[in-house]
Amino acid sequence: MIGTDRKASRCAPAGQPPVLGRPPAQNSDMRFIYQKVTLEVPEVGSCCYGLSAVRASELIKAKRDGKSLSPEQIEEFINGYTRGTVADYQMAAMCMAVYFRGLSASELAIWTRAMLHSGEVLDLSDIPGVKVDKHSTGGVGDKVSLCLTPLAAACGVRVPMVSGRGLGHTGGTLDKLESIPGFQVNLSTGEFRRLVRDVGACLIGQTDSLAPADKKLYALRDVTSTVDCIPLIASSIMSKKLAEGIDALVLDVKVGSGAFMKDIASARTLARTLTEIGNQMGKRVVALLTNMDQPLGRTVGNALEVVEAVEVLQGRGPADLVEVTYALAGEMLLLAGIAANPPQAREKLNATVRSGAALEKLEEIIRRQGGDGAIVRDFTRLPQARGRAEVAAPCDGFVSEIDSESIGVAAMVLGAGRERMESQIDPAVGLVLRRKVGEGVKAGEPLVDIHYNDGRSVEDAQDRILHAYRIEPSPPAPRPLIYERLGANR
Ligand code: URA
Repeated sequence: MIGTDRKASRCAPAGQPPVLGRPPAQNSDMRFIYQKVTLEVPEVGSCCYGLSAVRASELIKAKRDGKSLSPEQIEEFINGYTRGTVADYQMAAMCMAVYFRGLSASELAIWTRAMLHSGEVLDLSDIPGVKVDKHSTGGVGDKVSLCLTPLAAACGVRVPMVSGRGLGHTGGTLDKLESIPGFQVNLSTGEFRRLVRDVGACLIGQTDSLAPADKKLYALRDVTSTVDCIPLIASSIMSKKLAEGIDALVLDVKVGSGAFMKDIASARTLARTLTEIGNQMGKRVVALLTNMDQPLGRTVGNALEVVEAVEVLQGRGPADLVEVTYALAGEMLLLAGIAANPPQAREKLNATVRSGAALEKLEEIIRRQGGDGAIVRDFTRLPQARGRAEVAAPCDGFVSEIDSESIGVAAMVLGAGRERMESQIDPAVGLVLRRKVGEGVKAGEPLVDIHYNDGRSVEDAQDRILHAYRIEPSPPAPRPLIYERLGANR
């Protein structure tokens, strides 16, 4: 079972009846009540909503009570949700049942397949070359997709990338791209396919036709506390990624204070779950577990992160961002058969940056998606915040910890991220980390620069940043940036 840890800690011990179980005798009354509810709801197709509501409630009860759902039941439930015959409140209850009870490997495979086939599944097989995407489980300052996509494409990998928006403390690739004036992320699947063929890469948002069940479900999970659940995360990610028409996938599973997975054991479980789903669907999948105990790179905030990603392609990016980007892009080259081994992959990546080809590819991607390609040479063309403030070190010492989640929330408070899906973001604002873990600082020297437009948010952000930093008299022991690699053999 996937999710048995939760089961052990949050559920009644095996063999005992669930604490909130209803006596079977009440079932007929409940059915009557549901049938009354149906009178207000239109019929959909030939299926009466009331009948469907009873059926949905039976399936929720089965999962709530720890039973396995059959392939037909899972398909019925997910299809019903996509079409609207299973209501949001029923799906929310099902997600909570899955949160506590988990899904077996076979249930998860069927659940993911049903979500994948809730919409269009692209077939890119007529486009020459191996199609490889990268997906990150989300972190703070994670701008890897912005530099990795042109880098891998300039090396010859075809990169069809469907990305997401930031939510809460984590940033989203689409928001970062949209900070480039004119950049369009809402392209049709026809345009997506054309750019993957002609340019070698395209970055878009999830369309209404790609895995629509996930689009609906993700918004629902966000407001029902069912996001941090391994089977639900895995089916969400893989249904979207498999719908893109990829041959192979590289996963960046983030671990640490700024990630969904706070420890290596749960990140490993998520990575294994994701790779197994991909393998069952005939795709080669590699996962790297990478450190998110502090923000990646030195910038957090949309336009600021674009600048840092461009700097990677100019050969002058921060060491941690360069290392994670090269490790993930290297795996893409290996999966695509462009490099035979990791040193060859590294050499090819270095040469592509040195020659300027990676930067040119970024400019081409931006221009072909309607954006101002000149930003790669002139950062003043990106949105700029009007105000600057600072957070200074309260004492001498070495930075031993930066709580990424608090840094992400501080950036969100300034307007760089969204609290709710419908919130507006400000592309110009954000943070520049002047000190990172292991670096020395004297009292009064800057830890972080704040770029703001609305002065009212600055004090709150400063407070959060100050509390996110821990300064100790001696430097901390260095921690690895890449913990583990799982998946396809080299
Ligand atoms: N990213 C996704 O696409 N889905 C999740 O559920 C979590 C992270």
